[in-house]
Amino acid sequence: MKNKYYKFLDLGYQPLANQFLSKKDLLKKEKKYRLSVGLNKSNFLVSIKDTFTSKEMFDENYPYRSSMSKSVSTSFKKLSRQIKKKFKCKKILEIGSNDGTFMKYFNKKNIIGIEPCKNVEKITKNKKFKTYPLYWNDKTCQFLKKKYGEFDLIFSANTLSHIKDLGNVFKNISKILSEKGILIIEDPSLLDCLKKNAYDQFYNEHIYVFSCISLNEILKKNNLEIFKIENIELAGGSIRYYIKKTQNKLKIDKSFKIQINKELKFGLKKISTYQKFSKRVIESKNKLKEIFNNLKKKNKKIIGYGATAKSTTVLNYCRIDHNLIDYFVDTTPGKQNKYTPGTKIKIKKYEKEIKKDVDFVFLGAWNFKKEIFLKEKKFIKRGGKFITHVPFPKII
Ligand code: TMP
Repeated sequence: MKNKYYKFLDLGYQPLANQFLSKKDLLKKEKKYRLSVGLNKSNFLVSIKDTFTSKEMFDENYPYRSSMSKSVSTSFKKLSRQIKKKFKCKKILEIGSNDGTFMKYFNKKNIIGIEPCKNVEKITKNKKFKTYPLYWNDKTCQFLKKKYGEFDLIFSANTLSHIKDLGNVFKNISKILSEKGILIIEDPSLLDCLKKNAYDQFYNEHIYVFSCISLNEILKKNNLEIFKIENIELAGGSIRYYIKKTQNKLKIDKSFKIQINKELKFGLKKISTYQKFSKRVIESKNKLKEIFNNLKKKNKKIIGYGATAKSTTVLNYCRIDHNLIDYFVDTTPGKQNKYTPGTKIKIKKYEKEIKKDVDFVFLGAWNFKKEIFLKEKKFIKRGGKFITHVPFPKII
């Protein structure tokens, strides 16, 4: 089993990506793990090596809220319209419903959500939606099946790739999905990640970064298969997979084959592709550090924009800390007045615009670059510049 796993990337010791620190935590020793990434040579699944349990990562202090990003809301709204039009389903389950950003576009009678982080689950429940503070596992599946029967649509965005036992995840989905039922999942795309050198897709919560090739291998073992995909911009480049039961005779859309061919052409089945990626990541680290050090030598004021889980990986890997970035701004209440994990940079509330004394802004939320540039026209007009590491470190 062990020699099936080929380790190709070492991102050093990292704290948990969403473990933002309060002031009193600053002097305490943080929990760290070695973030290394590898490829399973038999099913081409890319995963991180050392993992944490769901309970350690997703609890009542979880800060992430889907509703904080306009692009996420807009995308879910569009998808909800398509679902209503195409699938006409009456019973929908969302796995990892967060603060109800997707659920809110459906009739309360038709949708049920499960979300283990009680703090965000409560937000949806307070809006009178039916949600349960549960992890997706055997027990939850049995409970839901007994109470509600089978579902004709299951949706899950950025959740299933966070659960270690994928075989079990899909075995249970297969059990609770009706014969003609559809599973729609969205997760970061490995092809996009490698093309963009977005090594920050790797952190403790992202146990897996799926490709169409690897996901279909796992699904097949559980009587499921992809019948259509859409490339979407969210989360730095994701794939929305449309999945059906194998016996469902729905036609396989050409988008599936096109994506598989793209992945094969890029070399997702070749070890050398991952070795080259790893080299590019090291180059990216050196270049980014050089940019920061040069600007600091010139006494430039640099802040961060969007204290993302992804930026935890970048900052800790490149050792960019509170000496180089004055502070971060972020719209998420649970992150404000806290400090970035490992690098201890203060996170301030985003106040309408970037302050006048700021020269450079590091894009922690590079995946929302378009949204941010639109919002920060004033900063750009007065000569303010952004720093990004994707696809290569540069000043924009
Ligand atoms: P994500 O990349 O994991 O979705 O996280 C995005 C983070 O960036 C989230 O904490 C909200 C924050 N953010 C801002 O502070 N301002 C913005 O304009 C956007 C789009 C995101």
